[in-house]
Amino acid sequence: MDLGLRGKKAIVTGATKGIGRGIVELLLAEGADVGFCARTAEEVASAVEALQRPGQQVIGEAVNVRDGEGYKAWLERTVAALGGCDVFIPGVSAGGGMDSEKNWVRNFEVDMLHTVRGCETLMPHLEKSGSGSIVIIGSTNAVETFAAPMAYNAIKAGLVTYSKQLSQFVGKKGVRVNAVSPGPIYFEGGAWEMIKGTQPKFYEWALKQIPCGRMGSVEEIARVVVFVASPAASLITGANVIADNGFTKRVQL
Ligand SMILES: NC(=O)c1ccc[n+]([C@@H]2O[C@H](COP(=O)([O-])OP(=O)(O)OC[C@H]3O[C@@H](n4cnc5c(N)ncnc54)[C@H](OP(=O)(O)O)[C@@H]3O)[C@@H](O)[C@H]2O)c1
Repeated sequence: MDLGLRGKKAIVTGATKGIGRGIVELLLAEGADVGFCARTAEEVASAVEALQRPGQQVIGEAVNVRDGEGYKAWLERTVAALGGCDVFIPGVSAGGGMDSEKNWVRNFEVDMLHTVRGCETLMPHLEKSGSGSIVIIGSTNAVETFAAPMAYNAIKAGLVTYSKQLSQFVGKKGVRVNAVSPGPIYFEGGAWEMIKGTQPKFYEWALKQIPCGRMGSVEEIARVVVFVASPAASLITGANVIADNGFTKRVQL
């Protein structure tokens, strides 16, 4: 199946490692030009170097998405350098934690505000695209009780609601908006590897919730995100696509 991404311009936040990196690699493999960011300058530079492909553009910059003005300026610079924006995938999260107010502020500013600022800044460009598409990265933590009453879980739920309502608002302008909510994704250097080492009982519990007994990989979740982002998924908008290998237990009516 041709995803229709050849020559499309995509912007991804948080992409030197983990799921974001997997998404960028797949977008490039499908023929898109890509701009991405992360905070650590050396890691951005080495990712840009490693990801170069003849005839395609891959550009990156060290940007902290929590700095609203700096982040919006980077988005505009990236659109100018790529020559437009057809796909936007805001992937950065401040992650979980139970420090109460500190986490609520961080998750609001990073997860929620960077997504909203990105959608608002890029919308005029996505409207011009003719096949504009946003994929917001949610989490299964938003749809079922998980671990503890963390800001992360509740703010991810807010992102899914925002995604649905934005899809209704901008659909008439030809822009699709979806969320993809991964279950546990295991990779070297990722949160689940850390949990395996620091909280082995919790890790084993999580593994037992997955019927086939293994967590997802970066490649598997990237395939879902890139498909939903692509023109091949033209019928899908306003969805929250759960990709969790059976981790969640609710009936999704
Ligand atoms: N891993 C899972 O099991 C899982 C499950 C469900 C949902 N998710 C969601 O999937 C997304 C990616 O998760 P991941 O596990 O792949 O994360 P990760 O491994 O921690 O990667 C995060 C990426 O974002 C960058 N980043 C972090 N904070 C940033 C900031 N403030 N500004 C700019 N860049 C920033 C990091 O580089 P720097 O540190 O250099 O900035 C890195 O490139 C998140 O939204 C997460 O909530 C993950």
